[in-house]
Amino acid sequence: MKRDVEAAGEQSGHDRETPGGARNLGRISTAGRRLLSGNVPRALDQLLDSVPWRGDELVLDVGTGSGLLLIAVARRLTTGRAIGIDVWSAEESSGNRPEVTLANARSEGVADRIDLWEGDAQKLPFGDEEFDVVLSSLVLHNIGETAGREQAVREMARVLKPGGRVLIQDSLHTEQYERALKECGATDVTRSKLSFLLLPPVRVVSGTKAGA
Ligand SMILES: C[S@@+](CC[C@H](N)C(=O)[O-])C[C@H]1O[C@@H](n2cnc3c(N)ncnc32)[C@H](O)[C@@H]1O
Repeated sequence: MKRDVEAAGEQSGHDRETPGGARNLGRISTAGRRLLSGNVPRALDQLLDSVPWRGDELVLDVGTGSGLLLIAVARRLTTGRAIGIDVWSAEESSGNRPEVTLANARSEGVADRIDLWEGDAQKLPFGDEEFDVVLSSLVLHNIGETAGREQAVREMARVLKPGGRVLIQDSLHTEQYERALKECGATDVTRSKLSFLLLPPVRVVSGTKAGA
């Protein structure tokens, strides 16, 4: 479903206003708890340092949850924007809510650089070749079937501009993501060694969209 979670009315594109009002701040999500643990900033830096940021990128964070990665990306942007998309379903999202994500972004001073959308990784509500960087952390393993996970990788590659970078961090199925990314024609596809900075331990599959 193509729906911007902020229900911002008539505006279109990625520069809509972010949702107003944080109504539920009492709850700290799983990602929020990880944010409080000492290794997380190192893990985020390790992931994001692999991108040669200019600051003007349009970035998509698939399965953004409470915005841990989204906020870290937004801190690296100047004129760019970071779009977070999530199913926001009580069943899938561990209770993550866009209001809480926005409140997190506000408290980190980056709310003006992010937008939140509702949508499924397997059918991203964006056009082809829109984003400079597409990333995802600890999300795709939630998709039960191999075909669905591969479809999500194809979608991430589809919305990426030629020459753009994709980073998929996950605890499971990373060989599948690596294979699917290669099948999309991505170049420089790598799968990292296991990192224990996050729990569960993760690998990062990365690649560059061909055709720049
Ligand atoms: C463990 S949380 C990770 C959140 C965030 N990426 C982080 O690292 O803190 C997993 C998130 O993926 C979202 N998610 C699960 N399946 C999804 C799907 N098919 N499409 C989009 N988001 C999904 C959930 O709603 C949840 O917010």
